Amino acid sequence: MKLPDRVTICEVGPRDGFQIEPEFIPTEQKVEVVDLLAASGLERIEVTSFVHPKVVPQTRDAEQVMAKIRRRPSTRYAALVPNDKGAVRAVDAGVDAIHTVVSASESHNLANVNMTIAESIEKLRAVMQVAERARVPVACGISTSFGCPFETEVPIPQVESVVRRLVDIGARAIGLADTTGMANPRQVARTLEHLMPKFPGIEWTLHTHDTRAMAIPNILAAMELGVTHFDSSIGGLGGCPFAPGASGNVCTEDLVHCLHAMGVRTGIDLDRLLAASRRVQDVVGRTLPGQIVKAGTWDRRYPVPDAVAARLGALPAAVAVRLGAPRA
Ligand code: COA
Ligand code: ZN
Repeated sequence: MKLPDRVTICEVGPRDGFQIEPEFIPTEQKVEVVDLLAASGLERIEVTSFVHPKVVPQTRDAEQVMAKIRRRPSTRYAALVPNDKGAVRAVDAGVDAIHTVVSASESHNLANVNMTIAESIEKLRAVMQVAERARVPVACGISTSFGCPFETEVPIPQVESVVRRLVDIGARAIGLADTTGMANPRQVARTLEHLMPKFPGIEWTLHTHDTRAMAIPNILAAMELGVTHFDSSIGGLGGCPFAPGASGNVCTEDLVHCLHAMGVRTGIDLDRLLAASRRVQDVVGRTLPGQIVKAGTWDRRYPVPDAVAARLGALPAAVAVRLGAPRA
């Protein structure tokens, strides 16, 4: 496999994850989770969203969360905004980066932000101006890039047209989002092969949901094409309140485990990430979809049963040596 040596992960659990939690998560607990995530070495965190507080009540404390987190210089703290009003709030709250949202399908865009795609682009043009004045970088996400829960297929030219309009208003970083986990690896490859040569110099991110257990295969397909930025959620939290059938993002610790097992670096301390994931399970009060928290890492070693040990003793020494120390 042809894979990059290093990838950058943006943790989106505190936004994409917490936004669909039915019980309001106290601000202090959100802050604690963001601080734990940053301490694990995550370079990018989507902390919250500056959206209408009645539409997404869970992030109504966006300003307070931003004010209370302990900022690490090595972490870029971003927030999601749908319009210039959100961008002004985000800049005033001191974000390091703005993440915007528009869908590739009209029906999801209307359901999510009550705007047509064209109306959203005009709002995002104003967002770019706010960000430019504040010298804050912007990354533009495109929801339903690989399928829409209301329209099913989203043709690649439709995604291309949204990318083109975002690039025209100044986007330099674009995230393709599989909002309800409809993408498959071949489709991801086909889409990227179509778009990447058309828009040189763009920093591409893949934002996956594991609704149909295809998130990590999709990420591998994108990595083979040179994509090095991925969004994920601690524990596999996540889902869009305005996309029926949406469920969690690819789980951050499962993805990091997979990458490290393949020798791909992330700069993240997996043990600390696993500890953060356990804390997030306490905060949301339920078991999350993440597998590594349950299974342990691939090099977990179980004690050999006595009866097996007795028979192993009679085998050549090489076998005993292999059992002596974990594989490097
Ligand atoms: N933050 C806070 N308030 C906002 C806001 C923002 N980013 N954007 C608009 N508002 C307020 C306006 O000031 C206005 O307030 P008023 O009634 O007191 O005058 C009110 O919302 C209506 O403004 P309007 O532009 O007509 O918004 P809308 O009702 O059509 O809603 C969005 C549009 C985009 C604000 C709303 O749909 C939204 O917040 N969506 C976010 C969805 C989301 O987070 N999805 C999950 C992530 S992908
Ligand atoms: Zn998402």
